[in-house]
Amino acid sequence: MSSPVEFVERAHSEHFECDPELITAAPGRVNLIGEHTDYNDGFVLPVAISYHTAVAISRRDDRNIVANALDEGTQTQFDLDADIAFDVATPWSNYLRGVIVELLRNGYRLSGANITISGNVPMGAGLSSSAALEISLIRALTQLSGETITGIEAARFGQAAENNFVGCNCGIMDQLISAEGLENHALLIDCRSLDTQPVPLPADSALLIINSNVQRKLVDGEYNLRRQQCEQVARHFAVAALRDVGLEQLAAATAVLTEVQLRRARHVITENDRTQQTAQALRDGDLVSIGKLMADSHESMRADFEITVPEIDCLVDIVKSVIGPSGGVRMTGGGFGGCVLVLVPQSLVADVASAVTNQYPQQTGLQPTLFECSVVSGAFNQGV
Ligand code: GLA
Repeated sequence: MSSPVEFVERAHSEHFECDPELITAAPGRVNLIGEHTDYNDGFVLPVAISYHTAVAISRRDDRNIVANALDEGTQTQFDLDADIAFDVATPWSNYLRGVIVELLRNGYRLSGANITISGNVPMGAGLSSSAALEISLIRALTQLSGETITGIEAARFGQAAENNFVGCNCGIMDQLISAEGLENHALLIDCRSLDTQPVPLPADSALLIINSNVQRKLVDGEYNLRRQQCEQVARHFAVAALRDVGLEQLAAATAVLTEVQLRRARHVITENDRTQQTAQALRDGDLVSIGKLMADSHESMRADFEITVPEIDCLVDIVKSVIGPSGGVRMTGGGFGGCVLVLVPQSLVADVASAVTNQYPQQTGLQPTLFECSVVSGAFNQGV
């Protein structure tokens, strides 16, 4: 099978009858720990994974954008100088429209362009296929137009496109790791300062991603609701974000906050702590401590933040029964389905895979999809 880069290159030449001037590729991501902490100005610890969205691009003589999504089999076209409107007929194109609106609003001068898009980041699995698309597009559009942009700026514009145009109030984690990820490293990101620290992954460890294949429903609505609940608690304490609240302060407010608000905030506060501890445990190569921290994170997402579903909890239990204390497993991403992430010594991968393949369908009636992935560099770090 050809890679997304080869595929867009060939298809671009065939469809537009001219070779692409450049091709960009941005990776999807998986988060080791630090869930729903990014929009609370907290800490996250994601890695960029070896699945990419590729964009081939060439200049047009007019001011139009004409884009083909090969995996969807649909095309979109609009004028850079007219009002750029949301398009219900081609949902993928709203990421393109959204990033262009943000770039233009921020003074970037863009050329008209022919664009071809394809990727192998599993869609709807919580592995950030949309962030990979945004980052790949931003890199391609700016480079074609002779504009310079940093990975952090690109991440901000990708996030702004989601927040202002697409309608998901996501944080900055997915875009930032897709832009700035580093091969064989996780990035400890301080989502307030956007300072990033590369943390090496333990030698001989493997990352296994298991897609529950649960149909994700109401994801954006529930996501936005969690964000509102966190912001309400921050407002109660008159601080910028939950990052600034401690557990003692929270305990002192049990009479005034609702039970749900208390649990949501407790998840974020404890998760920030676990994320920083996990970064240290990774540096120490201490998979046993990581396993404990990942288990606590999953339980906190299940009981306090209420973003897991029974099929995901079932996957976690199956994996845990195989790996014991030797590694970690937890749901990863925004929640309500999607994937679990397993970080284990390489020697345990085959046992985990066979237990999941046998037991998960029996217990849920669903087939899992397993991906063993390597950790790659982000779109703004390629060639480093
Ligand atoms: C989604 C969002 C991210 C982050 C995670 C949860 O992936 O896009 O910004 O909030 O959920 O950690």
